[in-house]
Amino acid sequence: MLCVNVELKERRYPIYIGENLLKNPDVYPVKAGDKVMIVTNETIAPLYLETVSQTLTDIGCQVSSVLLPDGEKYKTLQSLDLIFTALLKENHGRDTTLVALGGGVIGDVAGYAAASYQRGIKFIQIPTTLLAQVDSSVGGKTAVNHPLGKNMIGAFYQPATVIVDTLTLNSLPKREVNAGLAEVIKYGAILDLPFFDWLEQHVDNLVALNSDDLQYCIARCCQIKADVVARDETEKGDRALLNLGHTFGHTIEAHLGYGNWLHGEAVAAGMMMAAALSEQLGDISKADVGRLEKLLARANLPTISPDTMQPEDYLPYMMRDKKVLAGKLRLVLLKALGQAYVAQDTDKALVLSAISACTQTD
Ligand SMILES: NC(=O)c1ccc[n+]([C@@H]2O[C@H](COP(=O)([O-])OP(=O)(O)OC[C@H]3O[C@@H](n4cnc5c(N)ncnc54)[C@H](O)[C@@H]3O)[C@@H](O)[C@H]2O)c1
Ligand SMILES: [Zn+2]
Repeated sequence: MLCVNVELKERRYPIYIGENLLKNPDVYPVKAGDKVMIVTNETIAPLYLETVSQTLTDIGCQVSSVLLPDGEKYKTLQSLDLIFTALLKENHGRDTTLVALGGGVIGDVAGYAAASYQRGIKFIQIPTTLLAQVDSSVGGKTAVNHPLGKNMIGAFYQPATVIVDTLTLNSLPKREVNAGLAEVIKYGAILDLPFFDWLEQHVDNLVALNSDDLQYCIARCCQIKADVVARDETEKGDRALLNLGHTFGHTIEAHLGYGNWLHGEAVAAGMMMAAALSEQLGDISKADVGRLEKLLARANLPTISPDTMQPEDYLPYMMRDKKVLAGKLRLVLLKALGQAYVAQDTDKALVLSAISACTQTD
């Protein structure tokens, strides 16, 4: 088992990464007599709810659960309300612990429920998608969507512990695994060239869910994200680097309709656009753009724009991004592989030409 500590001013908490951790009572920060509510969904419950409940019951906890419907479209205030109602009906007080068992959707909803129920209760994350294990469960962002915007209602709220059981990835659809690898590759590209090199050596093992490599990889990603978050918990500076490829990617997701391309797939193509732009600005070399492209392709991820999108489709969406200030596009770009920065006012003609470079022309 590996352990990464997230160091924050007033709080510090561990992320445990290993096999069979769902069954390991030592990693759960609860004791006999504690009341625990597990939040999960109808897909994950038949796979893992019994195991987690049993471990907590063996510790001596009083365990109950609430099942949400599966999907991003249920990351809503209504789902929050289901959780609150379940907690209130069973007389859960401030000493209750909420456990999020699932992917990023469950983690985000349950996290915000924990942040706001009776002004905040203890929260444990058990992420079961690769994306959640390397990204959404680390850093304390929680939220639900509003009909007028994604993640519009939420809070920064840190868990007491994150428990990553890599065996849960065995049941995850391969496409979801690959989408998670896009965020993994992102960490190497923005901040860690040695990790990028390591990924070039090991990506096939990761695609095949080799356990030792997965554990190392997840720990490395959590460490990178934890370091960034420790420096910039509320996203005033460095944390923006984690958005490499995301402004382009969000545009793809929105244009195609959410769910057609997975988030990680859109981010993969978006990272290629950011890389192409960085090359045009004279920063990274053509060879390095090629390395990124090859690595993404080996993870079965797209490296070009969807064939139903034209380069002109991007800018109107991109200008609505949260990072746009006073009509100026702020994009995360690469000075080099392993070294990202925020470009303050990128020429829109260059942006267009970078997108064109990542668009199939034949
Ligand atoms: N809080 C953050 O910092 C942060 C960061 C990135 C993304 N997010 C959020 O995360 C969400 C996306 O998360 P996601 O990609 O994990 O999607 P998800 O939670 O929708 O999970 C993807 C699918 O896999 C299923 N699933 C989960 N684990 C499984 C398993 N082990 N076996 C079989 N099926 C399983 C889910 O039920 C779902 O159908 C988005 O809402 C996004 O906004 C949050
Ligand atoms: Zn992302």
